[in-house]
Amino acid sequence: MAGIKLVLSSLLIGLCAHYFYSTETITPDMVKGKKVLVTGSSTGIGEQIAYKFAEMGAHVMVTARRAKQLQEVVNKCLQLGAGSAHYVVSDMGNLTSAKNVSEEAIKKLGGLDYLVLNHIGGGASFGSFKGDMEAVLSSNNVNFLSYVQLTATALKALLESQGSIVVMSSLSGRIGAPFSTSYCAAKFGLEGFYSSLRREFTLNKSNVSVTVAVLGYIDTENAVRKVGDKVTMSASPKEECAAEVVKAAVLRQPELFYPFWGIKPLVLLRDWAPTLIGKLLDNFFVLDNIH
Ligand SMILES: NC(=O)c1ccc[n+]([C@@H]2O[C@H](COP(=O)([O-])OP(=O)(O)OC[C@H]3O[C@@H](n4cnc5c(N)ncnc54)[C@H](OP(=O)(O)O)[C@@H]3O)[C@@H](O)[C@H]2O)c1
Repeated sequence: MAGIKLVLSSLLIGLCAHYFYSTETITPDMVKGKKVLVTGSSTGIGEQIAYKFAEMGAHVMVTARRAKQLQEVVNKCLQLGAGSAHYVVSDMGNLTSAKNVSEEAIKKLGGLDYLVLNHIGGGASFGSFKGDMEAVLSSNNVNFLSYVQLTATALKALLESQGSIVVMSSLSGRIGAPFSTSYCAAKFGLEGFYSSLRREFTLNKSNVSVTVAVLGYIDTENAVRKVGDKVTMSASPKEECAAEVVKAAVLRQPELFYPFWGIKPLVLLRDWAPTLIGKLLDNFFVLDNIH
């Protein structure tokens, strides 16, 4: 009985918090002139996040490996109303290169208000783990260690600006999903690192916010190409996802669940009914298309 009461009260608290945050809005004057670095912004959700900040008059720095795409994103940011827009080419598999990105952003923008850690790469394919250690190491470098390196280099600037760190996570960072071992490991690592850092900031009275975005399946070109024929769930729009991420960041929310009803109930029930949740999620995988 006490257990049921606890589950019901945590559901109620979660719903109240969701209602409170979903009724809050942001306005361009909250963002105008802010200095923003968005990683993995040549395409996908990162590109859309850069546009949302640009529309509200922020100074935007974008980064990824492909210069031509980044130049196009910069041009569009300027058309949308960015205070300024720049790009820096970097491969996040190299931690020195990641360090250079934070340094370059702080130099070009004259400080930093938002560090949006979004890139994803490292070559791990969607499929069964066959003992490929190279894939694990590469994913760990690109999808975990480079996030930490970018943060380490930007820390002083963020403490000075009392800024915000935004970290893109996934349902796979909260519940182990099959066929993506290296990806899950990196996302679980990020969840641990940044939830610890958030508590440190609070206890040290450092007014830097940490927003972790826990995302479901989003309709970016790369994600659909990678898993479109391997899962049966429907993908949510990247533009709406980016708008929700920016809103959560500006409101300094500790967490965002998007799409809320697709993700939050699973996360809430994870520890109470892990076998049930695992079995429920197993139904979404098209095993004939996964090797
Ligand atoms: N889409 C989904 O279904 C989904 C679900 C849950 C969570 N998420 C999370 O949301 C974030 C964005 O996902 P997305 O689908 O928008 O990704 P995406 O479309 O694949 O874009 C990835 C970005 O990262 C860059 N990138 C890849 N490897 C890189 C490297 N080694 N160094 C530097 N940049 C690199 C890519 O640009 P270049 O190729 O030009 O380098 C691109 O700009 C990720 O953190 C992902 O885990 C996505």
